[in-house]
Amino acid sequence: MTHPYKKVRKAVLPVAGLGTRLLPATKVMPKEMLTIVDRPLIQMAIEEALQAGIEEFIFVVSDGKEILLRHFEEPKAMMEMLESRGKTKEIDKVKASTLSHDSVKTAYQKKALGLGHAVWCAKDLVGDEPFAVILPDDTVRHTESCLAQMMHIYDAHGGNIIASCRVLPQDTTRYGMLAIEKDNDAVRINGLVEKPKPEDAPSDMGIFGRYILQPEIFAHLERHEKGAGGEIQLTDAMAHLVKEQPFYACEFKGERLDCGNDIGFVKAQIAYALDKDNLAADLIEYMTAKLKEYKA
Ligand code: UTP
Repeated sequence: MTHPYKKVRKAVLPVAGLGTRLLPATKVMPKEMLTIVDRPLIQMAIEEALQAGIEEFIFVVSDGKEILLRHFEEPKAMMEMLESRGKTKEIDKVKASTLSHDSVKTAYQKKALGLGHAVWCAKDLVGDEPFAVILPDDTVRHTESCLAQMMHIYDAHGGNIIASCRVLPQDTTRYGMLAIEKDNDAVRINGLVEKPKPEDAPSDMGIFGRYILQPEIFAHLERHEKGAGGEIQLTDAMAHLVKEQPFYACEFKGERLDCGNDIGFVKAQIAYALDKDNLAADLIEYMTAKLKEYKA
């Protein structure tokens, strides 16, 4: 690294939201535990963070969401049973979804007051160092994880990095939108607006749920300023910090899939299933038949 900023070792995973768009599935089951083919969304997020070199995972949970933490513990009885039966493939799957006790930390958000508030709840566990934020319901399908792609920009420039993607005018009211300018080999962010009307959006670049932030963000989150939808928005705190520190956009490679709503969730099942050699042929055959049936 050629800049003075510290290495990013920690990731915050805000998983205390209500997941109302996926009701009734999320009445009891946290949204982030819903599976895309064979992996819960939260596991996909952790795998992405591991690929980017993250060493510590800070879960921001609410009461009743502890199942998200249990998913990463070693299930002793199940392991004994698998070992006694010589099920090596299954043992590998369990191990791949187990994290060391030391690498997992938990913060509580008592009330879902917004993403900014959830991140603020992790303040003491993050401390005085940069950190990543991953929203597990936003997934990116690509060989190199989205956060790893962001790390390349961080290594080159430091500061704060936001994953960004093109947004259609009719969708700006669902995204944080960015004011950007080209700065040699990087894209500098000059301003941010949460969920603007299309005519108020500063560009067609929107925020996708991945961030690398400096700890100074907490001073702005501390104010608990309410923004769009009456929620404490991370975008509003970043809009303050952008006046003090450099921010860069990472227009990542890969297919973005928003699994927090039903159509995105269904598309993700298909896309990730087609990536699997043991499922693709059957699925194509099934979908081809379904399409014919649908057209008839
Ligand atoms: P979303 O807005 O997509 O999640 O937040 P939500 O509020 O749970 O979903 P809907 O709109 O009601 O369907 C993105 C991420 O931020 C977390 C969510 O758990 C999700 O992972 N989040 C959101 C919190 O942890 N706390 C909050 O107060 C809000």
